[in-house]
Amino acid sequence: MDKMWSGRFSAGASNLLDQFNASIMYDRKLYREDIEGSLAHAAMLAKQGILTHEELKQIKEGLSQVQKEIESGEFEWKISDEDLHMGIEKRLTQLIGDTGKKLHTARSRNDQVAVDFRRYVLRKNLEIAEAIKLLMEAILEVANKHTETLIPGMTHLQHAQPINFGFHLGAYLSMFKRDVERFEISFARNNISPLGCAALAGTPHNVDREYTAELLGFDSVSVNCLDTVSDRDFALEILFNISTMMMHISRLSEELVMWSSYEFGFIELSDEYSTGSSIMPQKKNPDVPELLRGKTGRVYGALVGLLTVMKGLPLAYNKDTQEDKEGVFDAVETAEISLEILKEAIKTMQVKPQNMEKACAIGHLSATDLADYLVEKCGIPFREAHFITGRAVAKGEELGVDLSKMEFKDLKEIDDRIQEDVMEYLGLRHSMNARTSQGGTSSERTKEQLEYFKDYLNTD
Ligand code: ARG
Repeated sequence: MDKMWSGRFSAGASNLLDQFNASIMYDRKLYREDIEGSLAHAAMLAKQGILTHEELKQIKEGLSQVQKEIESGEFEWKISDEDLHMGIEKRLTQLIGDTGKKLHTARSRNDQVAVDFRRYVLRKNLEIAEAIKLLMEAILEVANKHTETLIPGMTHLQHAQPINFGFHLGAYLSMFKRDVERFEISFARNNISPLGCAALAGTPHNVDREYTAELLGFDSVSVNCLDTVSDRDFALEILFNISTMMMHISRLSEELVMWSSYEFGFIELSDEYSTGSSIMPQKKNPDVPELLRGKTGRVYGALVGLLTVMKGLPLAYNKDTQEDKEGVFDAVETAEISLEILKEAIKTMQVKPQNMEKACAIGHLSATDLADYLVEKCGIPFREAHFITGRAVAKGEELGVDLSKMEFKDLKEIDDRIQEDVMEYLGLRHSMNARTSQGGTSSERTKEQLEYFKDYLNTD
């Protein structure tokens, strides 16, 4: 019968209930947010004359002692205390006596947990955004070196048009920039204080919610207490942000896996970030990008898990909501290590430009250029030009020659309107550099795009 809420109970909780009900073994991660929240709440109570200044002083000293005990590992986390809020308050009361029991005036664990968890999630939104920027810097560095390196641009995983490797990586920079923005916008949208909502309906005590909001770094105070104590949109948002970011990471990872194969041979991951096989001595496996691809699945699981927990919950707080934390903690940690290791793998990988360029010599990558030539130089309607080019490709297949290497006489045979100047159009580098429209792959346009990302990373 040592529970804080045991007043109305005549029998103690079963051990099984304690184990089932407790969140203390994982929500203890929020101890700093919890102590900061209590300090702000106590300061406000003192300012409003609800606590004396002497009591505030005792609470501050007591909480600082609790924090020391937690950080030195002395603190005893007990399942029977249920959650960190009660564990910390109980220890505070042991340390400072009855004053400790006054701290919870005008507060409930419902607004307390909403403050703690929200502040953790807000902080992680910003930390992850910064980590994405470091990954972007690593990608940008490789991209800058390869604005002239030809690589087959693909659709349907089939050779489509020649592009440069810097341009290819620029696509990922675009994705990751959107991710950074998503985390930052979530931070701004959710930076609202729940403190002072108490259990669900507010409190009759004369609290100053603006004051605690300011002390805790929130931009404003929430509007409706009933919503606030049961709102977990901020947690869903970070899970969605992480899921989308991991989806981008998994796409890049898939390409790294493919590019590391003998069939592609476009890159080689460093020994530091590759693994071997226990049976096949020759193997060098891309475990890092494979695991990144795989971990994307578990992050999606956390998002769908919490969406499902929240579905159909009546207002306001329900214990179901306690299930919000483990998935978020896991997803956040997965995001952090994933960003870090992907950055290192990219920094240390070896790019093989010769193999990339060799791969461009198959698959008639300049076919669209021949069609464009027929339109531009011969005034042939595009549909007809498409057909004539198809004939040329078929001829190339028959001769076993890529369109970029075909002889003029063979082309002339297909359509007499084709002139000698066609040969320039069929060159792969010419094809890549011809795409000068805004956002296109020409080396000049690529450099412009990479400059844009450089400015973004330096100024933001
Ligand atoms: N451990 C709880 C959670 O994480 C704290 C809030 C509990 N409130 C309550 N009235 N049972 O959601």
